[in-house]
Amino acid sequence: MTATTRVFAVTGGASGIGFAFSEALARAGHSVVIADLRGASEAAERLTAQGLKVIGTQTDVIKPADVVGMLEQTVKAFGRLDVLVNNAGLFTTLALKPFDQISDAEWMRVMEVNTLGPFVCAKAVVPEMRKNGFGRIVNIASTTPIKGTPNMLHYVASKGAVIAFTRSLARELGKDGITVNAIAPGFTLSDGVLENDLHSQMGDVVRKTSRSLQRDQVPEDLVGALLFLASDGASFITGQTIAVDGGSVFI
Ligand SMILES: NC(=O)c1ccc[n+]([C@@H]2O[C@H](COP(=O)([O-])OP(=O)(O)OC[C@H]3O[C@@H](n4cnc5c(N)ncnc54)[C@H](O)[C@@H]3O)[C@@H](O)[C@H]2O)c1
Repeated sequence: MTATTRVFAVTGGASGIGFAFSEALARAGHSVVIADLRGASEAAERLTAQGLKVIGTQTDVIKPADVVGMLEQTVKAFGRLDVLVNNAGLFTTLALKPFDQISDAEWMRVMEVNTLGPFVCAKAVVPEMRKNGFGRIVNIASTTPIKGTPNMLHYVASKGAVIAFTRSLARELGKDGITVNAIAPGFTLSDGVLENDLHSQMGDVVRKTSRSLQRDQVPEDLVGALLFLASDGASFITGQTIAVDGGSVFI
């Protein structure tokens, strides 16, 4: 029996965890649209050079016109859109600081990309999924709202909102044959994290103090959960958050 191949859109897919998703999905035979603020075409070219089915489109997830354009390009290239992966987010570029040193503007910007972004993307793609009677939305949350991680209150609050968004939207879209789930990664050595010394030091603390499996987490560790949530085997799972963090939090 051959596995079903699907059409995926991965926001923030040009680097870090998003690129690991895009590469693994394409290698598994799926068609992939990399939607990113920067580097989307270049990232897609790296994968098409390997004979994989990938296109890249410059997309700002908070701009409805960009996201609708991304959907149109997806349907033109691959005929439909099956799976939206809401991965784009602000994290690795954020400075760690006590809550009262976070400006209102920084708070709003984090909320904008991390919560308005998935909302704008879901609103744009759900009509296409409803038309097909099938769809999967996978939101990339974080284990930080479960742990109550300090010194990034804006980020932690935004990812708590992503988990709540996942649950409510799952209830609204079940009747349309669309599942909505989240993956909550632990601290992961993505490209952005590796460029940020403070974040890397935080990773050492997590690994040594709270992880059952005491090794570094890499983007590839998250791929299995995404492939599963998009597979036929996950058709009766919705509204859930799967922590992939080496056994640091237990939900
Ligand atoms: N790295 C970690 O430890 C970790 C842990 C938990 C959750 N996460 C989440 O995983 C996701 C990916 O994280 P990462 O570490 O790979 O981050 P990263 O900073 O390495 O990559 C983020 C990607 O999103 C893109 N992006 C940012 N704003 C965008 C916008 N407005 N529109 C479109 N694209 C945009 C960036 O260009 C970049 O390619 C994020 O949602 C992050 O919050 C990361």
